[in-house]
Amino acid sequence: MKRTHSCGELKKKDMGKKVTLCGWVQRRRDHGGLIFIDLRDWGGITQVVFNPKISKVSHTKAHILRNEYVLSIQGKVAKRPKGSENRNLPTGEIEVLASGVEILNESKTPPFEIIDSVRASEDLRLKYRYLDLRRKPMQSNLILRHRVVKRIRDFLDKKDFIEIETPVLTKSTPEGARDYLVPSRVNPGSFFALPQSPQLFKQLLMVSGFDKYFQIVKCFRDEDLRADRQPEFTQLDLEASFVDEKDIMGIAEEVMVDLFSEVLGVRIKRPFPRLSYGEAMERFGTDNPDTRFGLELIDVTEITKKSDFRIFQEAKSIKGIRVFGGEKVSLKEIKELTEIALVYGAKGLAWLRITKEGVKAPIAKFFNKRITGDLIKRMGAEEGDLLLFIADKEKIVHDVLGRIRLELGKRLGLIPEGEYRFLWVVDFPLLEFDEEEKRFVSVHHPFTSPRESDISKLQEKPGEVKARAYDIVLNGIEIGGGSIRIANRKLQEKMFQALKIPKKEARERFGFLLEALEYGAPPHGGIALGLDRLVMIMAGRETIRDVIAFPKTQRATSLLTGSPSPVNDEQLKELHLKIEK
Ligand code: AMO
Ligand code: AMP
Repeated sequence: MKRTHSCGELKKKDMGKKVTLCGWVQRRRDHGGLIFIDLRDWGGITQVVFNPKISKVSHTKAHILRNEYVLSIQGKVAKRPKGSENRNLPTGEIEVLASGVEILNESKTPPFEIIDSVRASEDLRLKYRYLDLRRKPMQSNLILRHRVVKRIRDFLDKKDFIEIETPVLTKSTPEGARDYLVPSRVNPGSFFALPQSPQLFKQLLMVSGFDKYFQIVKCFRDEDLRADRQPEFTQLDLEASFVDEKDIMGIAEEVMVDLFSEVLGVRIKRPFPRLSYGEAMERFGTDNPDTRFGLELIDVTEITKKSDFRIFQEAKSIKGIRVFGGEKVSLKEIKELTEIALVYGAKGLAWLRITKEGVKAPIAKFFNKRITGDLIKRMGAEEGDLLLFIADKEKIVHDVLGRIRLELGKRLGLIPEGEYRFLWVVDFPLLEFDEEEKRFVSVHHPFTSPRESDISKLQEKPGEVKARAYDIVLNGIEIGGGSIRIANRKLQEKMFQALKIPKKEARERFGFLLEALEYGAPPHGGIALGLDRLVMIMAGRETIRDVIAFPKTQRATSLLTGSPSPVNDEQLKELHLKIEK
């Protein structure tokens, strides 16, 4: 090793030591007689001084140094002259007086400056990801991720969980997205699917008797991407036998409490609160509510139906949000919120202001005194408040008002920083009707067990069957989900039937699982946590791209490698594929 210390290590106590540092030139300043260099590596930054009186050769060499040159520097640690200390830098009290310098490599001028608050576009950062990853915030994110993964492995090992790898070239595992397919050269016309999750394999491992399994594992899903969705992402996947809901929820809580305490030094209280799916939708309009602030949805259907506003008279559902002190929200902002409402499918956003002079709004004329009075009472409104309403089908009311709620929370600064609100959402429906496919589909996945008492409803009233499923939400983001599984072939077949998957197709796609369930499958259940999302929240970032070394864009491409990319005709031929132009 060339270096004796990292660039973040040297302090006053090291004064007089002869050291060798290696790193990149962050900045060079030429002060005539003296040349200063900030030398950077993963550990931090150290100031290096080139003084012709100490080494004439080094001082001469220092003239040609530029940003991002790679150096090895020998020198002596010295106290900085009084007044030139830098309190913002851990090494700010010292500097290294260079006696020798070796240029290990030169660098072209980078396309953006390697600084903490980078000004480059994300596309440019992704194209030169290796440069972006030189920046301290990115290094901290990846180091945090490493700490998290290491701690999870150590913790689960202590709890007797075994990490087992499952295949990447496999068969479709439905989790609600499209599959990434891999053509087989040796089996013309046949394809592997990359796993959307290791769901079926972990269930098979339960049949094998590994009754406590986990895996930190890549999953692949071809779906519309967002800030918290990548086509390949990582799960902490977990499964156990002879368990019920509270066992799995318990171990997931333990992992979280341990992580936050050991990695962030934050104490999280157990057990985490639970909310039924129905209540989450009613109060927050979403099944992953952010409970760090109020602005809950209030049902006013019965009251406003009686107004003279035709839209309200005809709507199936009308809900509102009381914005405390909403007089701060300008007309322009209400317009912007209305735009959001329209984008997500509402027909408008109605509003009322409660002022000293009474109720003010374009729609106020449709409301008589009694209705206004009832509305104010129902919503607990006071002078200075703004009331917002959406009238529509319940699904749209929930979806849109849920988004408006989040937007308002952000705009009004109601979301406290540094707070972590965990929450379980339970009592999910097992199935929901898909308007496009005109059939019921799984809310989680088809291997989720229905509630025992609801099994008889599976054929006649599939929409009413509740699932033995649970989602874990942190600060309004779904960080995980799981369930107790179906461990019995007959019930699994019934489930496929309810999903309108023909018997033959079920056997082709999931025959191996159905068969395994007949060889003494133990009762089992599990959960998977989105590791990228979890680390994103722990790192205080807004997108999981910031905690993934080499992520893809929103269009599922890699700007760094230029993938996906066309392949040559020879390769296509080998794979028995033809591209239609
Ligand atoms: P689920 O589909 O809910 O469950 O996935 C578990 C968690 O993985 C994260 N996640 C994602 N993160 C980033 N990008 C994506 N595209 C993405 N998709 C999902 C979420 C999610 O909560 N096999 C079941 C688990 C089980 O039943 O045990 C499963 O995969 O945080
Ligand atoms: P209009 O009479 O269509 O101009 O609507 C009057 C007000 O009601 C406007 O502020 C619209 O944004 C709002 N509005 C229209 N349709 C709805 C709806 N379905 N739910 C809530 N507000 C609506």
